[in-house]
Amino acid sequence: MSTYNEAARPRVTTARLQAMKAAGEKIACITSYDYTMSRLVDAAGVDFILVGDSAANVMMGYDTTLPITLDDMITYAKGAVRGAEHAMVVVDLPFGYYQGCPELALKSAVRIMKETGAAAVKMEGGREIRESIERVLSAGIPVCGHLGLTPQSVNKFGGYGVRAKGDAEAARLLEDAAMLEEIGCYAVVLEKIPQELAAKVTAALTVPTIGIGAGSVTDGQILVVQDMLGMNEGFKPKFMRHFGQIGQAIKDAIGSYVGEVKAVTFPSDTEHY
Ligand code: KIV
Repeated sequence: MSTYNEAARPRVTTARLQAMKAAGEKIACITSYDYTMSRLVDAAGVDFILVGDSAANVMMGYDTTLPITLDDMITYAKGAVRGAEHAMVVVDLPFGYYQGCPELALKSAVRIMKETGAAAVKMEGGREIRESIERVLSAGIPVCGHLGLTPQSVNKFGGYGVRAKGDAEAARLLEDAAMLEEIGCYAVVLEKIPQELAAKVTAALTVPTIGIGAGSVTDGQILVVQDMLGMNEGFKPKFMRHFGQIGQAIKDAIGSYVGEVKAVTFPSDTEHY
């Protein structure tokens, strides 16, 4: 049973997230890609909903996040934003719509803000996309950074392994995180990096860090909703916990429905007009 008090909770903003960090209150984040899921996770007390480009994997069945388009992201985000009353909703800028071109980055981010009603965008990368981030920020659009494993660069990394295990990459990541805060990012996602490094980044920044596979030391945690609900069967990396077995629950419920339809026990005598 949830202990969350819906009425007592105001809309989460970038300022609220930063105040939560200052107060030592952990930030609970989750992905959502549609109206119904957003309503559920919002009512459960989530602070921050990410319409992640992980939609490419869990909603569209692609192996990587690279194929998803800006139009796809906008369609998912429109529903996800409408379902969230309290949580701040943030949308990923997808691959190919911001890298190497600040004008394109601004145009993509403006489309997301205008067409979806989201509160912010997220962009993967450090110094190599600095100008694109600055251009988006210059329009008054809040940007969440994303360092460590950045799945849009999977072909550069050659896989989804832990990042920044060596001293040089760790030092570069620390510098990039400081740069993201300095130029005005309101938060930074840290994906799949050693906990010790996540602790250093979290201590060095005044803006919140949101971790996935980065240990308990970050200011918040994020998981892909289908993964943590046990809907993405067979996917269980070390950092991930199943908080439910919803995949099995769906199969059980649909199996019952199929059985009752075939046995003509649904609809019953009272379930018709
Ligand atoms: O796309 C996504 O879902 C993400 C999170 C895993 C951080 O970027």
